[in-house]
Amino acid sequence: MGRAKLSIIGGGNVGASCAMWAASKELGDIVVIDIPDKEDATKGKMLDLLQCAPIERFDCSITGTADYAATAGSEVVIVTAGLPRKPGMSRDDLIQTNVKIVKSVSEQVAKHAPDAVMIVVSNPLDAMVYTAWKSSGFPTNRILGQAGCLDVARYRAFLSLELGCSVEDIQALLLGGHGDDMVPLPRYTSVHGIPIQQLLPEATITACVDRAKVGGGEIVKLMGTSAYYAPASGSVQMAEAIIKDKKRILPCAAYCDREYGVGGYFVGVPCVLGSGGMEKVIEVELDAAERTLMDESISHVKDLVKIVSTTFPELA
Ligand code: LAC
Repeated sequence: MGRAKLSIIGGGNVGASCAMWAASKELGDIVVIDIPDKEDATKGKMLDLLQCAPIERFDCSITGTADYAATAGSEVVIVTAGLPRKPGMSRDDLIQTNVKIVKSVSEQVAKHAPDAVMIVVSNPLDAMVYTAWKSSGFPTNRILGQAGCLDVARYRAFLSLELGCSVEDIQALLLGGHGDDMVPLPRYTSVHGIPIQQLLPEATITACVDRAKVGGGEIVKLMGTSAYYAPASGSVQMAEAIIKDKKRILPCAAYCDREYGVGGYFVGVPCVLGSGGMEKVIEVELDAAERTLMDESISHVKDLVKIVSTTFPELA
């Protein structure tokens, strides 16, 4: 049996970082696609990455190209294409431009890698996952959005700074869309099984929750563009679970119909990821306050999807 194949659409900061994390984990052969104008730059970046192989000790082929035919046979395709945020922009401000990009990318993916699981990273995430679903015609189990892995990683990183303990021992759950109204859940946060409330004062936990919610914006303000190491890391975490059929439980934007009473939208929920893509949504009990936050977040996701389906009737 040959190696698995992971394709990444978009060779910008997020795409190139995905390639780097994937190579370092030796997930399989890597293809990075960008537009013809950026083909040489993408080839160059991937050649640069390939030359790390003897030092970092990974064996795989790494290809930069503008030709979607190279994605054929991919188990997973990560879609990072689209404009990133600039300071002062919300993720939602990118919707008009990025719908067009994600639509055309998804059509190409459907044509050349029809059996892949697509992981969408482009923003505004929840609307882009919907766009990819409508444009690819893929079944809902093979369309996912990356947001929760990143958002929960930010939350766990901030908690670890407060606790002075290993990030590895911090488990947490996060629901909802990838907006500032995402829903980190302190009641489902623990440190090696110990409820977080026993280890940190309420105000500190709330500060970590609040910082995670605007974690993307904090970085945009500092750098002048969107984050990429952690968004890429979250995407590759999902790709690894699928390629290795690990059945990991990760927070992802997944299609929910009856689940959480969502009614047919992609929102952030814990799900089991394996070779079948999104294999199961896990429903957790929510108290009244958590339910209210979840409902607000779902309603924001619905508003974004409505913008897509009214501006682009072919995606309705
Ligand atoms: C962020 C962008 C990638 O949260 O949405 O950093």
